[in-house]
Amino acid sequence: GEEDAEYLVSLIGSTPGFPKDGIIFRDFMPVLADARGLDILLRGFAAALPIDPSDFDTVAGLESRGFLFGPALASRFGKGFVAIRKAGKLPPPVFTESYDLEYGSASVEIEQNAIHPGERVLIVDDLIATGGTARAGADLIEKAGGHVAGFSFLMELDGLNGYAKLSEAPISTLIAMPA
Ligand code: PRP
Ligand code: MG
Repeated sequence: GEEDAEYLVSLIGSTPGFPKDGIIFRDFMPVLADARGLDILLRGFAAALPIDPSDFDTVAGLESRGFLFGPALASRFGKGFVAIRKAGKLPPPVFTESYDLEYGSASVEIEQNAIHPGERVLIVDDLIATGGTARAGADLIEKAGGHVAGFSFLMELDGLNGYAKLSEAPISTLIAMPA
């Protein structure tokens, strides 16, 4: 509830000017380090799921912070976990998507056999800012023959309109922070 959300917000670290001027870095590592925070995080994701657990088959996490709780979350629902990695980390054959980040640009990849045809995928990450990372992840899932069933984030950054890039499926976030 409200108390849990406030507790999560209290654990989020904020560093102005990192990794560059004008950015406030929002750090959720302290949530993982805190036993109550970690429990609230995993229970909160489960409670806030944007779709019914019967409406997705697997969880995909975005490197690297989406890897830190995606497998635990998937296991709660009896699902497996698929990694969407930054370019150059996975053995070929892979699918690749380029995207613009809040700062800089990058490419992400998925193994070509990672998704079964028609598999319904819940995409998870710690944070949605511009939505560019999640958009690239969703495009990869489609390229790999899957279907994006929903998106779940811990945090959204106010005013960056990231949701607008993800109109194909329902979205949940646990907390909002100023950008
Ligand atoms: C951060 C964050 C999200 C993404 C959100 O990841 O963890 O994945 O940025 O930004 P966007 O909505 O504007 O795309 P980052 O690329 O910094 O890498 P990391 O997860 O490996 O730390
Ligand atoms: Mg990330």
